Amino acid sequence: MTDLLLTDIGQLVTNDGEPMRNAVVAIDGDKFSYIGTAKDAPFLGNGEIVQCDGAAVLPGFVDAHTHLIFAGDRSDEFSRRLAGESYSQIAAEGGGILSTVTATRAATEEQLFDLAVDRAWRMIRSGTTTIEVKSGYGLDLETELRLLRVANRLSDTLPITVKITFLGAHTIPLEFANDRTGYVDQVVETMLPEVAPLAHYCDVFVEEGAFTVDEARRIFAVASEFGLGARVHAEQLSRFGGAHLAAEIGAVSADHLDHATMEDAQAMAAAGTSAVLVPGASYTLRSAQAPGPLLLEAGCNIALATDCNPGTSYFEAMSPIISLAVAQMGLTVDQAIHAATRGGATSLGLDDRGIIEAGARADLIVLDAPTVAHIPYRPATNLVGTVISGGVVIR
Ligand code: NIG
Ligand code: FE
Repeated sequence: MTDLLLTDIGQLVTNDGEPMRNAVVAIDGDKFSYIGTAKDAPFLGNGEIVQCDGAAVLPGFVDAHTHLIFAGDRSDEFSRRLAGESYSQIAAEGGGILSTVTATRAATEEQLFDLAVDRAWRMIRSGTTTIEVKSGYGLDLETELRLLRVANRLSDTLPITVKITFLGAHTIPLEFANDRTGYVDQVVETMLPEVAPLAHYCDVFVEEGAFTVDEARRIFAVASEFGLGARVHAEQLSRFGGAHLAAEIGAVSADHLDHATMEDAQAMAAAGTSAVLVPGASYTLRSAQAPGPLLLEAGCNIALATDCNPGTSYFEAMSPIISLAVAQMGLTVDQAIHAATRGGATSLGLDDRGIIEAGARADLIVLDAPTVAHIPYRPATNLVGTVISGGVVIR
């Protein structure tokens, strides 16, 4: 049986071998059932035809790193940085993450849900069919739980896949400014046991001004006892040791990596730790891009993500992230498209996403363009036409 048959596809990027021309794609229920020539396609029956008119088709985007749930915005800090202040300076003065924490603590669960749903739908309309969502703007048990409940509600109600990460160790909250060990105690002893059932992963921002390698090691050890995999904010503002820690503990990913070296990359490759790269943050902070080509050369799986957050990367769509990865990070178009789809899925342990093959979950994009190169080539246009998630046309 075929429920949907996509015909007259110009370029089909499957991530399962070379791009194909003149292929058709059949979907049965929520899975792909056939990819090949029209003449061998399975019987359509009452199924529907999606006529692609020579457009390119690719897997749905997998956005493997977002801070989707927050209240308020920080456009004032954006302007201050343009006038010369640095991200770290503003954070040290109580702005940065802490200002979003204040706004988020003041918001109700319903308000946070509504804000996040609107952002998620803008992502979906831009072709994203899987997202990772972090907490991290609560920094107390009650608010972190509220954020994780919102994330679970997103997972239950959106027509896409949502993976959830606890980021209680995003920064030291104001009330623990003089007792950082007290806050780490709180994360491991009070928060982790309560939040673990609501999350898949634990993340720590390893950085000067946030958490040390030793503090992070302690948090990840307890998180692992609760069954949470590790994702690490590493080497974003300086080379601080997060990438090596990620490799040491077998983290599923180390993210950002703007200051990572070949040594870091080799350790991560040996450990099977994915590199999740967020060129939108480097763009917004006007800082160095992560060494994407070097990470690939070392043998790492690389993923591209928006890092959607109100401070460093208020990007909701993946297409401009692909543009930045090509124009500023030095990836090829094929590498960037792979990283924005299959690479992200691999970093989330989702073997049946980011790939168009029989049996995989039917998540795809029909572009309003003949080839995927048009995504970075026309960076300011949303070229996403039809979006299918789990076999359902959602845009
Ligand atoms: O990924 N690096 C830490 N976390 C975020 C920034 C959060 C914020 O500034 O609100 C990031 O860039
Ligand atoms: Fe981040």
